[in-house]
Amino acid sequence: MPILTSVKKLKPGMVLDQNVVNGVTVLLKYGITLTPEHIDSLLGKIPNKKVRIVDSALDEIVTFQDDSRDQDISQIIRSEAAKLFTRTSRMVRPGMPLYSKDCAPVLKGVYQLIDTMGSCPVKAALIDEGADLAEHTANVFYLCVAIGYSLRNYMRNERHRLSYANYIKNAMDLKPLATAAMFHDIGLVPIWPQINKPEKLTREEIRLIRQHPKTSADMLPDTIHPLTRQAVLMHHENHDSSGYPQRMEKNKINVLAKVIRVADAFSAAITSRSYRPAKTPIEALYEMAYGKCRQYYDTKILRILSTIIQPIPIGAKLKLKSGLYAVVTKHTYKEPFNPEIVIAFDKEGNPLPTARITGPFPLQTLKRTGVESFDGKDISYINGISKFMIPKTSDIEINHKYREILDLVYP
Ligand SMILES: [Fe+2]
Ligand SMILES: [Fe+2]
Repeated sequence: MPILTSVKKLKPGMVLDQNVVNGVTVLLKYGITLTPEHIDSLLGKIPNKKVRIVDSALDEIVTFQDDSRDQDISQIIRSEAAKLFTRTSRMVRPGMPLYSKDCAPVLKGVYQLIDTMGSCPVKAALIDEGADLAEHTANVFYLCVAIGYSLRNYMRNERHRLSYANYIKNAMDLKPLATAAMFHDIGLVPIWPQINKPEKLTREEIRLIRQHPKTSADMLPDTIHPLTRQAVLMHHENHDSSGYPQRMEKNKINVLAKVIRVADAFSAAITSRSYRPAKTPIEALYEMAYGKCRQYYDTKILRILSTIIQPIPIGAKLKLKSGLYAVVTKHTYKEPFNPEIVIAFDKEGNPLPTARITGPFPLQTLKRTGVESFDGKDISYINGISKFMIPKTSDIEINHKYREILDLVYP
């Protein structure tokens, strides 16, 4: 049985239930028994993270969904995507387009990754922080392809509606989307060190950032698919016409750009920056659906994201309003805030006697009590949200208590 344990609470002798990763890098493999040296190393690299630890006592009583395959596939795809991006970024010369023959191996790699993901469908698309541009791109790439596979029918209809279908031999082809995801921020490469700083951005830096969709699109080689170039150019356009660089109306935004917009915002939100902390996936998803920027996103695409990311991880120890603790045993497809739980710990967090363990049942069946917090952070705002519904404006006021979450936005 895996229990998510914060790195600061690890003790020698504990056994890892899951690979420990930092971005796209595996730090320690599952099955390892932790030594003081391992723990020191993790404290140095990822002091604020949680890792999954085997809890053999409860393992015999409770069955957990095994998502190790989902984790592994995500890791493989994202680390390969990060390598492809790094390879591309070495070819970047400010103000110069990339050459198509130089990009050919990158495109080949992109197509292979699409095929790999097609042949290994995942139940949950699990990602980690995207601290540098390569890791961020890898996250966006992975989420876009995962959304793409879930959304092919919708995208086909949109393409026909916007009469782009004649560009496409196979309207279900994910190559233009995946390629656009790979290159979407390529124009940020020359300015990335300059814009990631604790100090306020200068006017010139803001101008350069707002220019990057165009810079990226202009850098693409001549032979790139027209839809790819368009998606890169439009990836910061918003559904409410507040985006950049062109403040486009939603009906004119390329659907591939809308997919990148959603994946990009989620990856950015869960990543810490020098000027703000990372949000948890629960906060990020809640904010994207209920926060003041919810009008930025295509509702359909956001809903697809919500079905595949599983924001409350297996092994999470949740504090309930009753004071008892429950552990997440299974993801519930299409209901991101309603995982299956088992109530297995008393009010002090110690294991309950076997006879008093209850569950598994979906979290949202605890109608009267509900959940209070996860890892000391209030998450009671998810009580009552089982099916993921994007609310009407009037519903938002109910959640005003959580303004500090809803206002932390990534533009
Ligand atoms: Fe961007
Ligand atoms: Fe991005």
